[in-house]
Amino acid sequence: MAGGAIVNTAGAKDYPGKLTLFVFFTCVVAATGGLIFGYDIGISGGVTSMDPFLEKFFPEVFRKKQMADKNNQYCKYDNQLLQTFTSSLYLAALVASFFAATVTRVAGRKWSMFGGGLTFLVGAALNGAAKNVAMLIIGRILLGVGVGFANQSVPVYLSEMAPAKLRGMLNIGFQLMITIGILAAELINYGTNKIKAGYGWRISLALAAVPAGIITLGALFLPDTPNSLLERGHPEEARRMLRRIRGTDDIGEEYADISAASEEAKTVRHPWRNILQRRYRAQLTMAIAIPFFQQLTGINVIMFYAPVLFDTLGFKSDASLMSAVITGLVNVFATLVSVFTVDRLGRRKLFLQGGAQMIVCQVVVGTLIAVKFGTSGIGDIPKGYAAVVVVFICAYVAGFAWSWGPLGWLVPSEIFPLEIRPAGQSINVSVNMLFTFVIAQAFLTMLCHLKFGLFYFFAGWVVIMTVFIALFLPETKNVPIEEMVLVWKSHWFWGKFLGDEDTRHVQMAPSSNKTADA
Ligand code: BGC
Repeated sequence: MAGGAIVNTAGAKDYPGKLTLFVFFTCVVAATGGLIFGYDIGISGGVTSMDPFLEKFFPEVFRKKQMADKNNQYCKYDNQLLQTFTSSLYLAALVASFFAATVTRVAGRKWSMFGGGLTFLVGAALNGAAKNVAMLIIGRILLGVGVGFANQSVPVYLSEMAPAKLRGMLNIGFQLMITIGILAAELINYGTNKIKAGYGWRISLALAAVPAGIITLGALFLPDTPNSLLERGHPEEARRMLRRIRGTDDIGEEYADISAASEEAKTVRHPWRNILQRRYRAQLTMAIAIPFFQQLTGINVIMFYAPVLFDTLGFKSDASLMSAVITGLVNVFATLVSVFTVDRLGRRKLFLQGGAQMIVCQVVVGTLIAVKFGTSGIGDIPKGYAAVVVVFICAYVAGFAWSWGPLGWLVPSEIFPLEIRPAGQSINVSVNMLFTFVIAQAFLTMLCHLKFGLFYFFAGWVVIMTVFIALFLPETKNVPIEEMVLVWKSHWFWGKFLGDEDTRHVQMAPSSNKTADA
């Protein structure tokens, strides 16, 4: 076979080929699927702090808010129905991702993205036109279904399309789009909040149709991945696509490996039952732990409720703009750091550094708030003091944005063998959504009860997850996706769960001997 593969540190290969313009653009289009998720995260916090919105749908919260200056600052937004507005979407996304797994496997990644965009579009229309709480919540459920499908298909699509050496960078395009979506939503909220006639929230909610339109149309033009084409029985198309995306005819090695993976996948009838087998224990653990930990960083406390939080801290009418700056700009720019370093530094270094930074910042923020508000929740923060709080919140968001944010989607999308990839990704999405839901639902109540201790609570979790990564997550940078099993095989802990026969199909692929033969 021409060319040949180079064996890298994990014992896996590097294939010939380069980053083609074609693959770059397909990845950019697919990554826009992140926009709908991001737009949604960013929009809810702002809308739920708009007075006309509260007065129309949640009059009780509105009244309580009016009186809050005299009352406890920590508790003024504590309302179950209001939290349901934010969190219903994530519950819907959780359920949808199970169906999305089947669609991505049987119909391909592309149609899963298309379906997600379309459902989201309908949800946006319903929300913009909402006359009552029921319309609001049904709209949000449809948005959730859209997010479930997009988050199921986009990360996997990106990881399959990308050449191994640039997989981190291209996959993080998804997270970058999430952060751009959040920023856009927050800026839009800031603008619509100023509309005197009080219909600003409608514009905010209806504009979700824009990112939905982009991914729906975009998906129509996207090709499917070679891995998915082959798995669905189109070997010639798969070969042609692989040549096109790698920009070389020398695709023999990679094609053989995808083909071996696809043969292996065909023997698996029940991916859901299969994923429980001992040899997949490492991947299953990560599919559950990574999204769980990502949400337990507490990031969505800032993302959903930043305007509320800043209002609580006494920023008054500046709260929305402040939060747009915090959660928006810092989040986008810090994500770029990981785009450019993830394939060189690797996943582990980013996880460990980002984790350490978040721990320090959370402890500082918690302490600063404790000093001013104590446990009574009564107090006022002077401007200079508030600025220090903001700086540490920024540093916390930055730490998240180059570690758990992007890697929370990248790592689970690159560690599963083809036969259980959609099932694994679906577990990842649903665990992520479940805990996004839990945090969205519980935050305002937790703030009311744990007070400043909430920040210590999340800091404690970040300590646990950082130790977890240090011990249990092997480095996956530059390893071809269909060879990932070798990484687990050589890990001090997970290696015990794998026998020689479990890596047989990878090692038997042509010229995958352990010496470089480039
Ligand atoms: C997370 C979201 C979070 C966002 C912030 C994503 O990776 O899944 O829950 O709101 O990052 O940028």
